[in-house]
Amino acid sequence: MSILSCCRIPKRGTMRKSSLKSSKSSVHEIKPSKKYENREGLSTFPRSVSMNTGGMKQRIIAEDILKHGNVGVPAEVFTFRELANTTENFNPELLVGEGGFGRVYKGYLKKTNQVVAVKQLDRNGIQGNREFLSEVLTLSMVHHPNLVNLIGYCADGQQRILVYEYMPNRSLEEHLLDLPPNKKALDWYTRMEIAKGAARGLEYLHDTANPPIIYRDFKASNILLDEKFNPKLSDFGLAKLGPTGEQDHVSTRVMGTYGYCAPEYAQTGQLTTKSDVYSFGVVFLEIISGRRVIDSTKPTEEENLVDWAKPLFKDKRKFVLMADPLLEGKYPVKGLYQALAIASMCLQEEASTRPLIGDVVTALEYLAIRADAEITPAPDEQEG
Ligand SMILES: Nc1ncnc2c1ncn2[C@@H]1O[C@H](COP(=O)(O)OP(=O)(O)OP(=O)(O)O)[C@@H](O)[C@H]1O
Ligand SMILES: [Mg+2]
Repeated sequence: MSILSCCRIPKRGTMRKSSLKSSKSSVHEIKPSKKYENREGLSTFPRSVSMNTGGMKQRIIAEDILKHGNVGVPAEVFTFRELANTTENFNPELLVGEGGFGRVYKGYLKKTNQVVAVKQLDRNGIQGNREFLSEVLTLSMVHHPNLVNLIGYCADGQQRILVYEYMPNRSLEEHLLDLPPNKKALDWYTRMEIAKGAARGLEYLHDTANPPIIYRDFKASNILLDEKFNPKLSDFGLAKLGPTGEQDHVSTRVMGTYGYCAPEYAQTGQLTTKSDVYSFGVVFLEIISGRRVIDSTKPTEEENLVDWAKPLFKDKRKFVLMADPLLEGKYPVKGLYQALAIASMCLQEEASTRPLIGDVVTALEYLAIRADAEITPAPDEQEG
């Protein structure tokens, strides 16, 4: 297949460090370098909603969501009291994580006997409300095994809370980057399975959802893992409807996470599904290398993963240097080469030369087939 047969070398990155912020911080606005059109997207959809408090506004939010969502299983509307009960009054001991939107608690819904993740948003103002609405609207419209399931939400007064299925293995980031010494690293094929599933989630958004949806926030902390390490994409607060009619891109404010944003999007605000493909390439490189996209603890030339990888992509003999040392050499060498070829293509500077996510899925279906005989034993095992 064409995607596996070559490894084109991208031109040197042009992202300006000064305009970008930490990859560990959450969603944020990246400095727009061009005036943008105010195109309506999912995140600006229900204009009737303001940040005023009160039952009326809450009802309008719920009505908007139900009216516009192509709702399969409608998200349930919870009261604040119900969710306080679910999380033992937002007990800090039940806190499972904290991101740019707010805190995530593990909770238990008695009436359905369900363990849930409860995300209490702490971003105030119009932007916070937009992200909340975008999340609820998008997740009400889309349903796929590789997208996290939204069980319900609460818009009581100033509170904006989202209730999701609980993902016992939390985020990919926690299994891949800055692993504590006692934690087992993911093996090669589990990594390929996770990449395949995450790519399928994107493929659904780009090719099956109608209109197409650009996810905009593809990163390791937004890929959640169930008990069998099946990946599901989460955080749809930045999701945007794709271009329609004659347009080939959406012009929008630049939002996202430093390091994961495609260069053309970071520089001009021009958003296409290929921006998601670039972000996929970054995450896939993190999956292969076990390195964080931006790591200020590394020597300067290794701080930016993509800049570090680009010269190595040019020399096949250096490919093994890019494999995560925690794999201890246990990976099929051919598989590593092919995986790096895919990452390299997704990371092309020129958006139009990046593959479609559907092609990436096809390639990953092939790479995720377990062929343990192909795995080169680690050096110590070879000696034994
Ligand atoms: N549905 C869920 N099930 C289990 N754990 C979850 C769930 N959603 C989130 N988490 C945990 O909470 C953490 C914080 O998630 P959150 O989405 O708020 O922030 P983030 O992804 O780290 O950053 P950002 O705000 O940029 O998305 C995740 O890293 C994950 O460990
Ligand atoms: Mg997240």
